[in-house]
Amino acid sequence: MANSLPHSVLIVGAGGREHALVKACLASPTHPRVIAAPGNGGIAQEAPCFPVTAEDVPGIVALARREQAGFVVVGPEVPLSLGLVDALAAAGIPAYGPKRDGARLEASKVFTKELLLKYRIPTAPAATFSQVAPALEYLRSRSVPIVVKADGLAAGKGVIVAQTFAEAEAAVRDMIEGGLFGASGRQVLIEDCLFGEETSIHLVVSGRDYVTLPVVQDHKRAGDHDTGPNTGGMGTYSPAEVVTPQLLARIDREICRPSVDAIAAEGIDFRGTLFIGLMLTDTGPQVLEYNTRFGDPETQVILPRLATDSLGLMWAATQGRLREIKLEVRPDYAMCVVVAAKGYPGSYPKGEPITLPPRLPPDTWVVHAGTAIDARRQIVSAGGRVLGVCARASSLSIAADRAYALCDQLQFASKYYRRDIGARQLNRK
Ligand code: AMP
Ligand code: GLY
Repeated sequence: MANSLPHSVLIVGAGGREHALVKACLASPTHPRVIAAPGNGGIAQEAPCFPVTAEDVPGIVALARREQAGFVVVGPEVPLSLGLVDALAAAGIPAYGPKRDGARLEASKVFTKELLLKYRIPTAPAATFSQVAPALEYLRSRSVPIVVKADGLAAGKGVIVAQTFAEAEAAVRDMIEGGLFGASGRQVLIEDCLFGEETSIHLVVSGRDYVTLPVVQDHKRAGDHDTGPNTGGMGTYSPAEVVTPQLLARIDREICRPSVDAIAAEGIDFRGTLFIGLMLTDTGPQVLEYNTRFGDPETQVILPRLATDSLGLMWAATQGRLREIKLEVRPDYAMCVVVAAKGYPGSYPKGEPITLPPRLPPDTWVVHAGTAIDARRQIVSAGGRVLGVCARASSLSIAADRAYALCDQLQFASKYYRRDIGARQLNRK
């Protein structure tokens, strides 16, 4: 296996997930050349970055050719849904991530709901509408809270959990009539509300084969104790013990295996990450959504916990050779605290100089998300989620102490982070 690994890898994307992928590929025992497009300030310190955006499909294909990348790893969902992996395949370049048909599992909530219902995979009952009147009639037949979802990709903003009918009606009108989400809102899904603790499972899939990655818990709300607006994710830890081995076995039996089989039965040759969002309800786990890529900031703690070479794992999935991989996971705990710019996910300042301690404490690392290198070669903030401050230890509480000590040491003007990453698991003990 190792002998056939590519000598040169291109990572596509610009966030924390992609920096984590760059670090994981650089740590591969096969010592590949690693390049990125477009990358960010932190990636640029470790790997050559090329100014091609992730959504520029012909640009990425041309770059991969020019730089003789033997393998491309696609981080974000948008280029997957635009068919980047199809275009690379047509150019003879193997890539990790589903083709456009598989990317629909994230890019269309209607498509996914139909698949879930067809294959009787546990999920909330729902109906699809493209006209306001029948949508409102359906709403009146259900009870609140109720969930209204725009069909397409909406950068995590296309889901409204409405507490009242008025709120649900406004969401339906905004999406269908108001063009709130553009083309992605032309169809809406109205779905019963599920209750319970949310969790997720990452699978590396290759056709009907898959391996289950370590379980991670994200923290989606901007504020401590799960208050404030929804974000892309404010912090993660792994292992997440809310998913006991018994529960994981049930999730595997009722959700993972049926999902992978359903996708294959639909004729989709899925090779990439299937990230399944779950609600752990009183009656069992139910699917909230599929994502067709690694989570951000889940990746920041998943990959460092693998004893198995991440690059070899992704390559094996792409080559249809996943059965050759025996996944080994380190017995430690890892945490990532997202350090954001105050105001995120609303408006926030950019361009603020960031100072990091000259030497990081042992068992800590910093993953850059929204950073850039300015004209004076200074690292500056360039996004809402700026850094992921990560640590590992033999216990979650020591990992948390290490990560938070480093959060206190680094500086930029509008630095903001949640203080309670991992608190739920720490308080349970
Ligand atoms: P999604 O993008 O479909 O995962 O939805 C985003 C968020 O909305 C999820 O992470 C949940 O917090 C919430 N959500 C989505 N669907 C439901 C549902 N049926 N019941 C309760 N909450 C939901
Ligand atoms: N952290 C959640 C996501 O990547 O969608």
